[in-house]
Amino acid sequence: MKSNKGSSMKEKIGVLLISHGSRLPESTKTINELANMYREYTDFKVEIAYMELRKPSIPTALDNLVKNTEIDTVIAVPVFLSHGMHTTRDIPKILGIASDDTNEDLHNHHDNHKHSDEHNHGHNHHHDFKKVNFDGKIIYTEPLGADPLLVEIIKNRVDNALND
Ligand code: NI
Repeated sequence: MKSNKGSSMKEKIGVLLISHGSRLPESTKTINELANMYREYTDFKVEIAYMELRKPSIPTALDNLVKNTEIDTVIAVPVFLSHGMHTTRDIPKILGIASDDTNEDLHNHHDNHKHSDEHNHGHNHHHDFKKVNFDGKIIYTEPLGADPLLVEIIKNRVDNALND
């Protein structure tokens, strides 16, 4: 790797943490704390984005991530426990990396969204989907998933409950 600062990897990579978003202001606390904890582990620039209900949106957060930087690669991490319609359909469309990526789909989303059992979690999805404006590479990761580290958290919650 070249030693000049301008071409170092850390200057060229940004991390976008994508959370669902909630109407409750307290909901941002956890993702903010996670982002700050992660920042202690990494030299990469890190920004938080919300799928819906809170700002910044994914396009705005990505703009903030890359502006006035040399970032040409964004690693987008859906901070969701598992895959769902947002992580498999909506977020890839917004990031412009959906396999069936068409503007028609974006515009039809609102009308077709029936809040069926596939996606009914207590809020309306009146998305005004706007795609990101970014020429670089976007690497979209898996959600948190069934990771042994999460089992540790469950174990701690149960153990702590019994110790109270
Ligand atoms: Ni939702």
